[in-house]
Order: sequence, then C-alpha cells, then structure tokens
Amino acid sequence: MTKLEILITGDGSTSFFHPELDETYHSRHGAIQEAVHVFIKTGLEHSIQENNLKQISIFEMGFGTGLNCLLTDLWSLENSFTINYTGIENTVLSDEQIDSCNYVEKLNDKNAAEIFNKIHASQWNEEATISDDFKLTKIESDIEKFKSSKKFDLIYFDAFGPRVQPFLWEITVLKKMYELLNSGGFFVTYCAKGSVRRTLIELGFEVERLPGPPGKREMLRARKVD
Ligand SMILES: C[S@@+](CC[C@H](N)C(=O)[O-])C[C@H]1O[C@@H](n2cnc3c(N)ncnc32)[C@H](O)[C@@H]1O
Repeated sequence: MTKLEILITGDGSTSFFHPELDETYHSRHGAIQEAVHVFIKTGLEHSIQENNLKQISIFEMGFGTGLNCLLTDLWSLENSFTINYTGIENTVLSDEQIDSCNYVEKLNDKNAAEIFNKIHASQWNEEATISDDFKLTKIESDIEKFKSSKKFDLIYFDAFGPRVQPFLWEITVLKKMYELLNSGGFFVTYCAKGSVRRTLIELGFEVERLPGPPGKREMLRARKVD
C-alpha cells in the first residue's frame, strides 16, 4: 500500500500528501473548492450547456479518493441528470485511507454519505448503479495500458502534476484523451502549464486558459473540434 499522509486543506477538506512523489492529491488551498471549480463548474456545467446535452458520459483520469465522482453524483441527483461515469486509477486507496477523508462531513448534503459509501463499495472493472441516474465504472489500470471503444463527452484530467509525473502530460497520453472524446467534447484540468497547453493545441484541441480555483491563477479547458 502506498504510504500517504493525510492533510487538511484550506477549505477544511482533507487531501493526501504522497511523500515519495512530493505531491498532494488536491490543491492545498482547498480540495473540495478546487474540485467544484475545475470539474463541476468549468467542466460539467459548461459541457452540458455548450453541447446542449440531455445526458453526459465522463471519463476521469486519476480516480483517487472519488471526490470528483461524489460531487458529480450529487450534482446529478440535484439536477435529475443522467451521468455515466468512468474513472481510472492505478493505485487503489485502502478502506482505511478512504475512511479518513472528510468529504461527507464537509459537504453537508443528505445524500453524500450513502453515495460515497456506494462509490467505494462498488466493484472495480464492473458497471455499478450508484444513484437513480448515475452509473459508475471504476477501472483499475495504468492509463498507458487503457483501451476503450467507448467515447466520452467530458474528461476530468486529474493526474499528479507535470513536475512529478511529466509523461502523463505529454503527447502520448494526451492524444489518448483526445481520441477518447466525442467531437465537441471537453477536457478540463487544474493545470495551466504552457507546454501542456501547446501539446493540446498541437493535437487539435481548441484551448482556453481560464481563472483557476482560489490560490491558482489559471486552469485549462480544451475542446475537441473535429
Ligand atoms: C491528483 S491525484 C487524483 C485525485 C483524485 N481525482 C481525487 O479527487 O482524489 C492523481 C491520481 O492519479 C493516479 N495515477 C497516477 N498515475 C496513474 C496512471 N499512470 N494511471 C492511472 N492512474 C494514475 C494516482 O494514483 C492518483 O490517485
């Protein structure tokens, strides 16, 4: 099991610090705050609005604690919106590590506890129904080895940063993300590094630099335009 240290971020929500990588799972300024800003507001809500979607399929690179999945399911419940969610992870967290996350307590949503438990009780590599309109497939694999005939409307790209895992932000993996998207689909990430932006443009994405969550100046949203 990976040795991780729990930490409390600026908004009171927990994250993990990975000492070997010298990297955190979320922004130190606020894990929930970052996830809501980058993935829910700038990713999910924008994609649905822009592409006039009646349902959405989402692929998450770096499932980790399941925080983005939890927030997305709660959004689906609140908006009665059908979501098909696939998350990939190569280092599955232990039950003990998941139990040390305080997202349920911090979110103050009557459905959060049940949803968070169902997300983590669901089997890996099988589709599970988490709530009425929300289906989840957790895939245990390296992204490098992942193959899919299925395409997605939106990608949450939540890998560790390019400083510690540069290969995840280079053309081979980002091309895979491009190929996983439907035409008109969106890719969002908390990262705004120039080399990542240029690689996305080289792949054919239309890229926007947008304000990041508190504590981070910018983030990227890219659209597959062909
Ligand atoms: C920044 S953390 C993700 C945080 C997660 N979305 C959350 O909210 O907890 C990056 C995640 O990517 C996973 N990861 C790293 N390399 C990977 C790879 N090659 N393939 C799949 N997952 C990977 C890590 O184990 C970690 O869980």
